[in-house]
Amino acid sequence: MKGYQVAVLPGDGIGNEVVPAAVRVLNAAAELHGGLKFDYQNFSWNCAYYLEHGRMMPEDALDTLSTFDLIFLGAVGYPGVPDHISLWGMLIPIRRHFQQYVNLRPVKTLRGVKSPLSSEHAKDIDFVVVRENSEGEYSNMGGRIHEGTPFETAVQLSYFSKMGVDRTLRYAFQLAQSSRRKRLMAATKSNGIIHTMPFWDEMCKSMMNDYPDVETRLMHVDALAAYFVLHPEELDVVVGSNLFGDILTDLGAAVMGSIGMAPAANINPERKYPSMFEPVHGSAPDIAGQGIANPIGQIWTAKMMLDFIGEEELGAQLLTAIEQTLQSEIKTPDLGGRATTEEMAHAVIQNLYRK
Ligand code: NAD
Ligand code: IPM
Ligand code: MN
Repeated sequence: MKGYQVAVLPGDGIGNEVVPAAVRVLNAAAELHGGLKFDYQNFSWNCAYYLEHGRMMPEDALDTLSTFDLIFLGAVGYPGVPDHISLWGMLIPIRRHFQQYVNLRPVKTLRGVKSPLSSEHAKDIDFVVVRENSEGEYSNMGGRIHEGTPFETAVQLSYFSKMGVDRTLRYAFQLAQSSRRKRLMAATKSNGIIHTMPFWDEMCKSMMNDYPDVETRLMHVDALAAYFVLHPEELDVVVGSNLFGDILTDLGAAVMGSIGMAPAANINPERKYPSMFEPVHGSAPDIAGQGIANPIGQIWTAKMMLDFIGEEELGAQLLTAIEQTLQSEIKTPDLGGRATTEEMAHAVIQNLYRK
């Protein structure tokens, strides 16, 4: 029996709906496997915790999390607490402390869900975004000057370290070479951002020599956003900075048919620290509490966790069960159906067990 200790952080809003649903699916998958067991510990660190304690997580939270094999997170952030406080008080420190410098975000159209793209190739979309997840545009360096005057100015510094860019690009090249179709698209903006982006491009171009069999292309991120809509089936691996990767993956999620579908994994490739699995979407305050959030993003994220621990066969079975569910009537409102979160998760479990 292989056992894993999982820290479960539902977080805010619909995180409290989709996480329990996905945990049920994960347990069903483990049971089907027979030799796999997850032990969960739930942590209710979120905006409500902040309002009560003045911080998003306890002081020793990162030490506590370090004792786990895996972290399964819903979403963080809710009206009533400014986003920069909730995110910099929980999500971002976890990603950084555990050096989860790769945010892996697959974009794939599944049978049963219509992409909003009318192209006949939309059904063939299957690529993955490697998002730099530890630095870049997300920094706490900067500030405001001349406050309260007509000259008030806000400054936000981006920082791209050689080590940070190198390890992300290398991960993307290796992924393209070893387990994909050997095509890499790197997002850039070196025409407008004249320090960090040329640095990124230079490193990308020099790394191309190490991976001659990977067909590599650099594209300005604005043009690439259009490419996501016009020729997404041409993409295989896309690599981008923290902010570019963030924006492109919500676009990727929309192209898949709903932001509620898109999975993600914050990975520490060296496996020195726990990796964290959380979908692309947020806490969706507009639909929270109604039990109608699409659980597929969180369930597919659980599939990524299975792949990560080497249970690819079970992961593939779970994706098949997801696809079977999507081909049925049991769909949440974002997919045009009337099912609840629970009903959809239950249908995935039933399909998982159907031989
Ligand atoms: P969001 O992803 O929460 O919502 C955007 C839209 O997508 C909303 O209309 C929402 O109803 C819909 N949506 C999202 N997930 C869905 C699902 N599973 N099923 C059906 N519909 C779904 O983005 P937002 O509104 O920009 O952010 C809300 C809060 O979440 C903010 O505080 C934000 O900072 C936070 N956030 C957190 C994370 C994270 O923790 N990983 C990610 C994104 C946003
Ligand atoms: C995501 C989210 C976060 C990010 C926010 C909430 C800080 O949008 O995980 O995609 O930008 O990383
Ligand atoms: Mn995002």
